[in-house]
Amino acid sequence: MLETLERQNAGGLASVLKPENLGDESFRRDHRLRYAYVAGAMANGIASTRLVAEMAGAGMLGFFGAAGLSLQRIESAIDELARTCPGAPYGFNLIHSPNEPDLESGVVDLYLKRGIHLVEASAYLRLTLPVVRYRVSGIKRDAAGRVVTPNRIIAKVSRVEVATQFFSPPPREFLEELVRAGEITAEQAVLAACIPMAQDLTAEADSGGHTDNRPLVTLLPTLLALRDRLQAQYGYDQPLRVGAAGGLSTPAGLAAAFAMGAAYVLTGSVNQACVESGSSDAVRRMLAQAEQADIAMAPAADMFEMGVRVQVLKRGTMFPMRAAKLYDLYRANAGLEALPEADKAFIEKQLLRTTLEDAWRGTRDFFATRDPAQVERAERDPKHRMALVFRSYLGLSSRWANAGEPSRTMDYQVWCGPAMGAFNEWTRGTFLEKPENRRVVVVAENLMQGAATQLRQLFEGMKSKT
Ligand SMILES: Cc1cc2nc3c(=O)[nH]c(=O)nc-3n(C[C@H](O)[C@H](O)[C@H](O)COP(=O)(O)O)c2cc1C
Repeated sequence: MLETLERQNAGGLASVLKPENLGDESFRRDHRLRYAYVAGAMANGIASTRLVAEMAGAGMLGFFGAAGLSLQRIESAIDELARTCPGAPYGFNLIHSPNEPDLESGVVDLYLKRGIHLVEASAYLRLTLPVVRYRVSGIKRDAAGRVVTPNRIIAKVSRVEVATQFFSPPPREFLEELVRAGEITAEQAVLAACIPMAQDLTAEADSGGHTDNRPLVTLLPTLLALRDRLQAQYGYDQPLRVGAAGGLSTPAGLAAAFAMGAAYVLTGSVNQACVESGSSDAVRRMLAQAEQADIAMAPAADMFEMGVRVQVLKRGTMFPMRAAKLYDLYRANAGLEALPEADKAFIEKQLLRTTLEDAWRGTRDFFATRDPAQVERAERDPKHRMALVFRSYLGLSSRWANAGEPSRTMDYQVWCGPAMGAFNEWTRGTFLEKPENRRVVVVAENLMQGAATQLRQLFEGMKSKT
């Protein structure tokens, strides 16, 4: 009798293992999704409006890649998505910008003004006033007395300290500052003590772009344990949830993440390789060639001076070596004027293809509208001037890649993680091998379907052994 029941249970479990049942049911319900599958933000509109709209149309969640874009560009993406998929689930990226605090605050103003109620908050090392302001703005009690927040955050983190901050209520000092500034009332500050900064948190393992290169098999259990500890500590009405990202690009990878307890999965690298991404066909072809080891860490344009690095494609481009050279020169020299002649010539001829003086003029004009304080500081501080010029090369190198600029192939900066090589291996010999057949929804559905099949086979295998 007992054995029959066990068999029935195992059979029942196998029969519900459909792609739309994977992950946390409350995550799908709260975000109005068919699948617990998210396409993460990709900067400079690589996670394009088209990509986000495709995901929304298939009952999956996409985040527009707002990082690196001007407020006007972000606003036109808001307009476009409001027009093309009204009422559908989607969100925007809110990226921490330590070098441009005004920009982070301006993005929050824009999201609040335009009613963007879901953001993927990323690259935070600690909470900032703007991200707290976004979360608590409009907080109130509903007719049933429950605390409700119009704005939700899915935080993406790879460190326990940062995860702890997002899974905790907003810090009191920020709430007091917001009350003093008239942004929220004292009553709202009291209500904010009952909610976590983020109910959903993505554990981001070794990924494309910014990454701490952590293995998912160690990071995810750690953040799941943190979730349980903080849920018990704060007793939130709605339980906290943890999703998984980093390296997810095969059915086996997704199956493993769900089996470990991920509420949802999030992908990045594979979506850049799809036709809807804001990247170029030239990059899509390069990505289709990538193998597991064709990636490297290179200095990040946005946090260059802090020594932060991003994971990029190595095959077919010299960007990682060139960017590393610039970082070494930045560390070793007091300013552009102090550069050794040979290095100066290399930078001017090979990288900038103009003189350092001209490059500084162009950089100064760029920052004069975007962030004038940077120009003022650079006029006083030669080291900062050098950082801005070097960062301009790093910034342009990803724009050349997105535009498919043929004269700059060797300078393409393409953010990419080991997921790409695994995806190419999995799709070898199938229709998804060809870059022109890679569509975000087709890729996502195949991954989810494959993951469900793998888990079903696993349970059926276990059943036949009992
Ligand atoms: C081209 C590219 C650009 C990215 N840009 C951003 C970004 O602007 N903001 C962000 O939160 N994450 C960014 N990411 C990270 C992805 O959203 C996602 O978390 C990550 O790629 C998942 O790991 P995977 O690359 O192994 O799939 C980027 C990733 C890639 C590949």
